[in-house]
Amino acid sequence: MVKLPSDFVWGYATASYQIEGSASAGGRGPSIWDTFSKIPSKIRDGSNGDIATDSYRLWKEDVALLKSYGVRAYRFSISWSRVIPLGGRNDLVNEEGIAFYRGLIEELLKNGITPFVTLYHWDLPQGLDDRYGGWLNKEEIVKDYVNYARLCFTRYGDLVKNWITHNEPWCISVLGYQKGAFAPGHKGDVEPWIVAHHTILAHAYTVKLYREEFKPTQGGQIGITLDCHWQLPYDDSPANVAAAQRGIDFKLGRFADPIYKGHYPATVKAMIGDRLPEFTAEELAVVKGSSDFFGLNTYTTQIVQEGGGDEINGRITVGFTRPDGSQLGTQAHVSWLQTYPPGFRLLLNYLWKTYERPIYITENGFAARNEDVLPVEQVIHDVDRVEYFEGYANALLQAVTEDGVPVKGYFGWSLLDNYEWADGYLTRFGVTYVDYATQKRTPKDSSRVLKRFFEKHIEA
Ligand code: BGC
Repeated sequence: MVKLPSDFVWGYATASYQIEGSASAGGRGPSIWDTFSKIPSKIRDGSNGDIATDSYRLWKEDVALLKSYGVRAYRFSISWSRVIPLGGRNDLVNEEGIAFYRGLIEELLKNGITPFVTLYHWDLPQGLDDRYGGWLNKEEIVKDYVNYARLCFTRYGDLVKNWITHNEPWCISVLGYQKGAFAPGHKGDVEPWIVAHHTILAHAYTVKLYREEFKPTQGGQIGITLDCHWQLPYDDSPANVAAAQRGIDFKLGRFADPIYKGHYPATVKAMIGDRLPEFTAEELAVVKGSSDFFGLNTYTTQIVQEGGGDEINGRITVGFTRPDGSQLGTQAHVSWLQTYPPGFRLLLNYLWKTYERPIYITENGFAARNEDVLPVEQVIHDVDRVEYFEGYANALLQAVTEDGVPVKGYFGWSLLDNYEWADGYLTRFGVTYVDYATQKRTPKDSSRVLKRFFEKHIEA
């Protein structure tokens, strides 16, 4: 094969808290991000998602933008507290919130755009954190999550055929419960492992529900999105090669191994010991095999050396510098991101070989430097983002056509500049520039790259 298959899907991704705004309009209840973003010094520019890109009101304009970009699909997330303001299984459903997503889904379909819906992109209803500690309470959170998922399958499943449970449980558990950098802002070395375990269970019981009660009539697919940077050993010394594998185990294997293989990685068990919760036999039967595809968010590659670093990452040191002092690639606005397409190709091969599931790239993108301060006339010529997307799209093409990796879809992050979590509005990942004072959207040069690329490389 020299081209991508004719049913290859591509588009852009967003997430509810990052774009919707209207935080207390339309009956929405608060989420842990509404609370966290208002704690002084948590967000670099002191901002929050109260307005964001105002997409709760400008959603039709956003769909028109997607259409003009020539996409086949759009990945967005549902704000749980917009459809169940307090979040719980005995709490009221907000019909206005339900109608909002129904309208969006219908408008997408009318425009020939396939919806890929994420159930959870980090905005837990504050009501559940207040009531029982949110992700820390296994019995309650799994039931409430499954109940919320049931509502979504019931109300949207006639139209939505592609479901993603969580977005990046690594970020939920590590940034939210180990580093304190994301909501709800806890720090420690016990909670992140408990929360991670509970996110896996909530995911797995949701997939069980979908497969038993909805898939037979609705006929869709469901999976999870995990995140990983490719881990490149600093040199070929056995210690650094082992460290790179351990880096993957701690970032990705800790979720992917239970979900696709039915056990935690041995390296994780060895280092975490008793703090790593165990699945009961009954739970394990539900967890193992609980994803129809491999949803991957990936942005960069890290060069890995043995030793140092946090236990949470497997005690490795990561950077971008090779032994000869050279850097991997173009530096982004954020310190954690450099362009390195070969790492993407290696990661795709690793995932296929290790987990043997079809792959969807659910996020991939670049934050070009200084887009927060430069005038729009300059920002729209985003040469670094253009270079990034061209490089990564070509690496994807090689992985599929030369290596035989079954990648089924690709979503660029992101449709719009938006609320970049703890970076607030200072970091911009969009292929569309957003003027936050007026909400005017202006396409950047990068908005044309993927369209050109996929028009050329997808089989007719
Ligand atoms: C997240 C997005 C985020 C992006 C860029 C991913 O980890 O899913 O919400 O904006 O990375 O940092």
